Amino acid sequence: MNVLVTGGAGYIGSHAVRRLLQDGHTVTVLDNLSRGHRTAVLPEAQFIQADLRDTDTVRTTLEKHTIDCVMHFAALAYVGESVTEPLTYYDNNTYGTISLLQAMEKSGVNRMVFSSTCATYGEPESMPIVETMPQKPINPYGWSKLFVEQILTDYANANKNFAFAALRYFNVAGSASDGSIGEDHDPETHIIPVLLNVALGKVPKVTVFGDDYPTPDGTCIRDYIHVEDLVDAHTVVMEALQPGDQRFYNLGVGQGRSVRELIDTAREVTGREIRVEIGPRRQGDPPKLYANADKIRQELNWKAKHTDVREMIASAWQWFQSHPNGYNDK
Ligand SMILES: NC(=O)c1ccc[n+]([C@@H]2O[C@H](COP(=O)([O-])OP(=O)(O)OC[C@H]3O[C@@H](n4cnc5c(N)ncnc54)[C@H](O)[C@@H]3O)[C@@H](O)[C@H]2O)c1
Repeated sequence: MNVLVTGGAGYIGSHAVRRLLQDGHTVTVLDNLSRGHRTAVLPEAQFIQADLRDTDTVRTTLEKHTIDCVMHFAALAYVGESVTEPLTYYDNNTYGTISLLQAMEKSGVNRMVFSSTCATYGEPESMPIVETMPQKPINPYGWSKLFVEQILTDYANANKNFAFAALRYFNVAGSASDGSIGEDHDPETHIIPVLLNVALGKVPKVTVFGDDYPTPDGTCIRDYIHVEDLVDAHTVVMEALQPGDQRFYNLGVGQGRSVRELIDTAREVTGREIRVEIGPRRQGDPPKLYANADKIRQELNWKAKHTDVREMIASAWQWFQSHPNGYNDK
């Protein structure tokens, strides 16, 4: 298939590009490099530096590369930034997707796999989270993604040839098994890379936001999924999409891990002391968030293979050790 990967220079998108190339697909990446890294894109993929909101360039790209399916990862994804700059998030993530859909409509491209998020659920009343639970985001980032889910639904209702899947990721972790690409965000807010930056001595300590939650060890519990499992699910979903499909799946492993467990495991994996400071709770951090991942298993026979968080940390550590300054391109 000819696949357009938006955001393919970012963390997850670059892993999707690698996997799609391995599977024999022809890959074109469209990324404005606002947050990504040119060197994260393997040379076998075509690279177009462009913004989603430049509808004409997106359309030309879709037509020139006779795209069959769009994997749409491009977005801004910092919750805190979205609270202080909501318009930037709605413009980039929500309007950016409208522009992409307009370009797809004009060029007759009818398939999309969209990166949604568990942030669309907000603070659910019970765990694990099932896809049918109410979606009530508690920040503009979550809303910017939930609006896209609604736009995709309305567009698909009006265009019976269109097919999409919205994949609601939980916490994505790890790096490519050969250590060739990995996670390099600036600033880094994800707990595993932050722990590894402390292990490397790049950051003096990690701050744990609250250890008095109603969880067994007092720290927050989240569901971590290996990036290679995540992109594997994308390929399975892409192959399954049929005209008219509107699919929504949680992508997690279905188990929660506490921040304390991650710290202990990161210390074991790296063999290094990781200094921890306990800070106050952050507003809007639910004690527990983990997925019920049954739907995609039942419908597409897919489930995560790397469920051990130690494996995720070890694979991320491999990348961090070989690339202590990340892509070193900024
Ligand atoms: N990392 C996670 O744990 C996680 C969890 C849930 C959902 N997601 C979603 O997955 C997707 C990928 O996340 P990531 O961690 O790889 O983020 P990332 O920041 O590493 O990658 C995003 C990429 O999109 C590009 N981009 C952003 N806006 C663009 C625009 N307007 N036009 C063109 N390119 C643009 C950036 O330059 C970057 O390369 C995002 O949509 C994010 O919301 C990620």
